[in-house]
Amino acid sequence: MNLSERDKKHNWHPYTQHKTSQPEIAILKGEGALLWDENNKEYIDAIASWWVNPYGHSNQFIADAIYKQLTTLEHVLFGGFTHEPAVLLSEKLIEILPKNQQKIFFSDNGSTAVEIAIKVAMQYFYNKNEKRTTIIAFENAFHGDTFGAMAASGISFFTEAFKGSLIQVVRIPVPTIGNEKESLDALAKAIKEYDCAAFIFEPLVQGAAGMVMYEASELDKLMKICKENQVFTIADEVMTGFGKTGKTFACNYLEGKPDIMCLSKALTGGTIPMAITTFTQEIFDGFYDDDVNKALFHGHTFTANPTGCAAALASIQLLKSDEMQENIERVNKRHLQFQEKIKRHPKVSTTRVLGVIFALEIKTDSKASYYGGLRNKLYNFFIEKGVILRPVGNIIYILPPYIITNEQLQKVYQTIEEALEIV
Ligand SMILES: Cc1ncc(COP(=O)(O)O)c(C=O)c1O
Repeated sequence: MNLSERDKKHNWHPYTQHKTSQPEIAILKGEGALLWDENNKEYIDAIASWWVNPYGHSNQFIADAIYKQLTTLEHVLFGGFTHEPAVLLSEKLIEILPKNQQKIFFSDNGSTAVEIAIKVAMQYFYNKNEKRTTIIAFENAFHGDTFGAMAASGISFFTEAFKGSLIQVVRIPVPTIGNEKESLDALAKAIKEYDCAAFIFEPLVQGAAGMVMYEASELDKLMKICKENQVFTIADEVMTGFGKTGKTFACNYLEGKPDIMCLSKALTGGTIPMAITTFTQEIFDGFYDDDVNKALFHGHTFTANPTGCAAALASIQLLKSDEMQENIERVNKRHLQFQEKIKRHPKVSTTRVLGVIFALEIKTDSKASYYGGLRNKLYNFFIEKGVILRPVGNIIYILPPYIITNEQLQKVYQTIEEALEIV
């Protein structure tokens, strides 16, 4: 039996209906933007393995940093202890984050980063004896799969089974072109009618919704209303963080600053699972008290794992290098050129580009379902051609590692053009 067959025996895969899904592809090796399966078939990883891997697979620089840390101090509990990689990483993050971010809380994945953000926002008001238990979120948002994150997420079939068991969330429209006023009005109404603790959003790009984009100026307006009403703003940069939008953080496009930020995915360059939630001093001070009950009673065993911190420090060093910044610009320019070429294709309804993110929507008679026939046809076509792309319904998006070569990128574009011929 090969790996793919052996895998079937015991492994339960994410977002997978095992009765109808194809066998999993067993990957043996990765280098740069490429992956090879157990039959030695080559794939271009055009979505950076769910957006985690900007600097390429098996990156030597990050691997060396991890090895060095593993053989110095692999882990120590973060309750009552600290260590150099955590101190260095927090100092580095404070240097590159929006200037109002002052406190760093570590966890393991994007969902927990969001979970912590929501818990902190709610407990901040609880500590002040104020009842504020509602969260505002965008329609079609995705913030993760744990209960708090799931409540904030608006992709309904992901969360349908848990409907009655989630915290109160008021959903408002995304301020995409034409919906700006509706979004503003809905936010103002939500704040008036509910006891809102926070507004959570994916800044500028809703990843899982299909790279849906909206303007920074519109988000600024929404954030301003929140500020006027002392509702905290939570920027979930789990997907957008670390260069994806062309700036280090999507929030760098804003005039205002969020109160809380969630980071994960590219934080460690796709090596060690790690996440971080960052806060203003004001929020931290809401927990700083002689009363122990006002502390944040939240923690994970692997909080601030030193190896993860070392991987993150190496990743940020790579991100900030001239070479990587040039790569981001290069990929963006190529995307814009491809957009010019493809936008008038008779089967394409819209295209959008921000930083290294490209998306196009295929014209369909009705709204294609997230995991429907069109999506599966496209996905299978791409896999057959050796390009890893995961369309969302009728939306095809590219979010490649920044180090993808021009030739590899060209193959991705060409394969998308070919796919348009079969739909
Ligand atoms: C914006 C955003 N937030 C949170 C998450 C959840 O992250 P994780 O899958 O690491 O729990 C994701 C995952 O795609 C995401 O895109």
